[in-house]
Amino acid sequence: MTDISQHERLLIIDFGSQVTQLIARRLRELSVYCEIHPYQNVDDAFLKAFDPKAVIFSGGPDSVTRAGSPRPPAAVFDMGVPILGICYGQQVMMQMLGGQVVSGHGTAEFGRAFVTPANGDLELLQGWFKTDKEQVWMSHGDHVSQIAPGFEVYGTSPNAPYAITADVARGFYAVQFHPEVHHTPNGAMLYENFVRMAGFTGDWTMGTYREQAIEAIREQVGDKQVICGLSGGVDSSVAAVLIHEAIGDQLTCVFVDHGLLRKGEAEEVVTMFRDNYNMRLIHADEQELFLGELDGVSDPEKKRKIIGRLFIDVFQKHADGIEGAEFLAQGTLYPDVIESVSFSGGPSVTIKSHHNVGGLPEKMGLKLVEPLRELFKDEVRALGAELGLPPSFIGRHPFPGPGLAIRCPGEITREKLDILREADAVYIDQIRKHGLYDDIWQAFVAILPVRTVGVMGDGRTYDFACALRAVTSVDGMTADYYPFTHEFLGETATRIINEVQGINRVTYDITSKPPGTIEWE
Ligand code: XMP
Repeated sequence: MTDISQHERLLIIDFGSQVTQLIARRLRELSVYCEIHPYQNVDDAFLKAFDPKAVIFSGGPDSVTRAGSPRPPAAVFDMGVPILGICYGQQVMMQMLGGQVVSGHGTAEFGRAFVTPANGDLELLQGWFKTDKEQVWMSHGDHVSQIAPGFEVYGTSPNAPYAITADVARGFYAVQFHPEVHHTPNGAMLYENFVRMAGFTGDWTMGTYREQAIEAIREQVGDKQVICGLSGGVDSSVAAVLIHEAIGDQLTCVFVDHGLLRKGEAEEVVTMFRDNYNMRLIHADEQELFLGELDGVSDPEKKRKIIGRLFIDVFQKHADGIEGAEFLAQGTLYPDVIESVSFSGGPSVTIKSHHNVGGLPEKMGLKLVEPLRELFKDEVRALGAELGLPPSFIGRHPFPGPGLAIRCPGEITREKLDILREADAVYIDQIRKHGLYDDIWQAFVAILPVRTVGVMGDGRTYDFACALRAVTSVDGMTADYYPFTHEFLGETATRIINEVQGINRVTYDITSKPPGTIEWE
């Protein structure tokens, strides 16, 4: 989206490591612009066009000793730019430059290892060895048995005699371990040293990103109209504000109220974007339609499918009314678009059909505007702050497309939704009051399809039970329950039962993901 020719660029050639994305992450933290490209896509012409200031070879699951295993184009070594090879990347570098790699046989290393320094100073390692044993994370079956001519050894580990090697004259560096992972505690320092040596000035900031993204949007869209599905979530909100800043009234946002939103949410979104930002915003109140079609449906996948289908219909209905709409804006993020080399090949199991508007562009013949394609989630938040969105809005917990439908196991009724909204509001209020909101990835209430007997005052109650959920997570892929104090839980249960009519029992869900999922359905 942005004109990357204006940035200093680093190229990561991906050989299929599970953690390649983390290399990009570490570089972003250093304000360095980088792109990950699978090795198959990188040929001489690509290298020339991309014109990187430095290159990193990722790790990968293959063995360089196998005929036909992945290679970068040989031309990469003639570009005169620094190269850092990691794990498989180290081995491929050695093999191609005249060294040797052998397969495992008792010298494999998986997990924590300690590297000791060898052979004097190396700028890549500046400040790195705090003691003579630095902890690193290894994950290799093969290892380098002979380094290529011109290379020297600067670090060794028990099973990797060539744990750190370099040909300083040519600017080639190679490490057997993974500096990008959390288990290599000071690994980020190696990236910092590498990009400094390569001459990066750190020109990848949100300020410059914002300016360039605005330019790029104007150029892409020209005088045409753009429509944007606004959910009120952080990604679509930041995308909408950015695009609005670029093209003003050429943008129309469609906010679909499916009747499955949280308390006060629709008003909040409409006030924020229509009143504060003066955006053209269609507030599509389609509660009757959605709740009508969901009536009597209790199967989670059926619910998801119905909501997904109706969402597209409704969006399309409103978008059709916007004359000259040629573009659809989406808040797609970098992790969604990273092409990684898949060696497994097998189809993965559908746990849940996630709701998105992915099918829309083709169906409607629209072109995509995706100004967040190059950003990680926390960078989107930083951009939101740069654009002046209030911190409370930017820091909101994720909310799923199907909304409260998947927090209401069993049949969905208006009564249950109303109770759920009230209980959820009390719970979130409690969390905010205790200053815990920002420590939690996501918190919500699920209303359970069961009534239980209670006693309030002198009377018998027969009301719904609910479950509180709060998890910590980095990316929503794995999660752990949040360790509230018993005092907090007790106080919250009391408040919900006292303040929300229709609930007389509160439980706390302490399932991690896996084996559970974050949402109940
Ligand atoms: P699960 O329940 O799969 O959720 O552990 C992981 C994260 O994804 C959110 N989620 C969704 N987000 N559309 C979305 O946009 C969906 O259909 C959907 N389902 C789950 C969930 O809230 C959590 O943050």
